[in-house]
Amino acid sequence: MPRQTLKALRRAYAEELRIAGPVRGNPRVIDAFAKVPREKFLPPGPWTLHGTVSWRTPDANPAWVSHNVLISLDARKNLNNGSPSFWAYLFDQINLKPGEHVLQVGAGSGYYTAILAELVGRRGHIRAIEYDKRLAGIARENLKALPQVELIYGDASVCDPGHDLDVIVAFTGGTHPPSRWLTRLASGGRLLMPLVGDDTHGFMLRAVHRGQQRFDAKALAHVWIYLAKGFREKGEASELKRAIGRLDGKLPSLRALHVGPVSKARRKEAFYATRTFWLSRTR
Ligand SMILES: C[S@@+](CC[C@H](N)C(=O)[O-])C[C@H]1O[C@@H](n2cnc3c(N)ncnc32)[C@H](O)[C@@H]1O
Repeated sequence: MPRQTLKALRRAYAEELRIAGPVRGNPRVIDAFAKVPREKFLPPGPWTLHGTVSWRTPDANPAWVSHNVLISLDARKNLNNGSPSFWAYLFDQINLKPGEHVLQVGAGSGYYTAILAELVGRRGHIRAIEYDKRLAGIARENLKALPQVELIYGDASVCDPGHDLDVIVAFTGGTHPPSRWLTRLASGGRLLMPLVGDDTHGFMLRAVHRGQQRFDAKALAHVWIYLAKGFREKGEASELKRAIGRLDGKLPSLRALHVGPVSKARRKEAFYATRTFWLSRTR
């Protein structure tokens, strides 16, 4: 396929994400998706695409993958490359800016790391942590041309997350944010993470640090996602599933993320509480 045609296709794909996301705030999100070649971050084609049904592309033409579909990364582990419109929407909601410092949890093979790297630019920094050794090696290779990316193989719940982080974004579902993430988030910093039960279903939590460990909280979207290692606990997962089950399919209406356990006096305000943090609701 001629280079120019592929470039035009990638722009059309990115423009589609503007509507499908939607992306209404930060047009740089669209430009980042238009710039990064998705095929570079996938296993060699043909690929398995997950549309209404899962199907195999007839060949390895890169034109197949610049579309708003899930694509298998590792079928045995049920791992895929994520929904572009879903992540485009979420990146818009955390308003990434040039020069910002980001912790990415669960880099996979690096596609969204490269998008994040576009958004923060060369003056920014992405510490991307991946638990799967094979994928971490692939991501490191895929991202080697980007000096603002530091790829680490390990468990992000115990690795050093870095200091003065502007953004923490997790691509894998936990039941609590590790305390060391929250204490490293700068004032104005945003945490974006999937909170999910053992059935892989939950919601994307956005928490904004207002200083002195006070955080606004909002549930941005429903999510079904790969379960994390390290920042999940069985009891919390059951409690979370029960809390989500009481919502009748709606998203929780959250007010704030509180650090530490909930007091007896405030128990009634809690949507979900663990030993290390709790979420209060608006009503
Ligand atoms: C849904 S996949 C991310 C795929 C990625 N969006 C992509 O397109 O390549 C989630 C990833 O999180 C990783 N992961 C799970 N727990 C982790 C942890 N504690 N620290 C770092 N990575 C973790 C998994 O190994 C998996 O690769």
